[in-house]
Amino acid sequence: MRICISCAAGCEAALKRELYKLGYGDLPAVNGRVHFEGDYDDLCKCNLFLRTANRVYVELAAFKATNFDELFDGVLNIDWAAYTSINGKFDVVAKCVDSHIHAISVTQSITKKAICKKLAIGKILSESGERYRVEVAIVKDFVSVLLDSSGSGLHRRGYRALVGEAPLKETLASAILDYTVWNRSRPFADLFCGSGTFVIEAAMKAQNIPAGYMRDFDFLHWSKFNASTFENIKADAKAKILDEPIRLIGYDIDERQLSLARKHAQIAGVEKYVHFQKSDMREFSSAKKYGVIVTNPPYGERLSERKEVEKIMRDYGKVYASLNDWSAYTLTPVTDFERLFGKKADKKRKIYNGPIECCLYSMMGNPPPKTEKK
Ligand SMILES: C[S@@+](CC[C@H](N)C(=O)[O-])C[C@H]1O[C@@H](n2cnc3c(N)ncnc32)[C@H](O)[C@@H]1O
Repeated sequence: MRICISCAAGCEAALKRELYKLGYGDLPAVNGRVHFEGDYDDLCKCNLFLRTANRVYVELAAFKATNFDELFDGVLNIDWAAYTSINGKFDVVAKCVDSHIHAISVTQSITKKAICKKLAIGKILSESGERYRVEVAIVKDFVSVLLDSSGSGLHRRGYRALVGEAPLKETLASAILDYTVWNRSRPFADLFCGSGTFVIEAAMKAQNIPAGYMRDFDFLHWSKFNASTFENIKADAKAKILDEPIRLIGYDIDERQLSLARKHAQIAGVEKYVHFQKSDMREFSSAKKYGVIVTNPPYGERLSERKEVEKIMRDYGKVYASLNDWSAYTLTPVTDFERLFGKKADKKRKIYNGPIECCLYSMMGNPPPKTEKK
């Protein structure tokens, strides 16, 4: 089967690296998508292990269509019975960009009609069984029909019981961690931790807890899939989970956010590796060297908050300056962050946090000497 993996803008490099580490080689990422030929084992591995991907799909067809007849024929040509079942519940979602076909709801109903004609030979599908989420993407008259194996987006790890204010998506937090020099031997702190996404993702990564360890996936319920394949891969992964002595720190001034963070850490099974503290970031200090801060400070959506945000950025810069050879990675849409922080970034990377254009500013401390254990 042709597998297609999607990720958010700015996460491509991290996703490519993850796939490389999983043994898939150096795959090109085009428009936030990576393709390769694979099988059900790969669906299992990619859904279970990838920390930075949005969804894992089976690409069922790719063809050109400038009208609904061509769309219908293209969908009808797919061997639906090879992947799905007559009892399935088909949820079709569509997007049309710069194409002759631009009516989304008609695209959805034509697609469903073609699936029904092929699978149920004209009868009405009972739709009583397992879910098949089908995505039809038409971009510049080019149609791709994707069967979504993940179900809900892969950022839903299963630990976020409740959503805090302005939480970062788990997949984005994980990609950002991948862009840092942090590894489990270095101190870690998020000085504006909110609901704890960076801290929890870092702890899961450090202890080899697979990203999808706690959640369900649609493909596990597909009638053509043998569930024992996934159980075996998950059991292998379980045997590789570590219990290393690490301690990752999160500071925040909002107790409601911190109680969410603690709850999330508990559900994720990392509570003994993390410490969430109700403190102003101005109180942060550390005698340790070579630590890493990864954070996204408040950015002040309203103009009235701008002065307060500027003060926070200035004081954050002072806290950083007092630390010994620490590195700081800060995700913010504040364009004059370097001036406020009081230091030029060693590297800047454009990243979207949802619809908000942000920059990840990397301020690098000296690396630990080569002789020290990494
Ligand atoms: C953009 S949110 C961080 C969201 C977080 N990354 C998450 O995933 O939930 C910024 C956080 O900074 C906290 N904050 C604001 N001023 C602070 C200060 N002086 N010290 C520590 N935390 C502060 C807010 O309470 C808020 O939770």
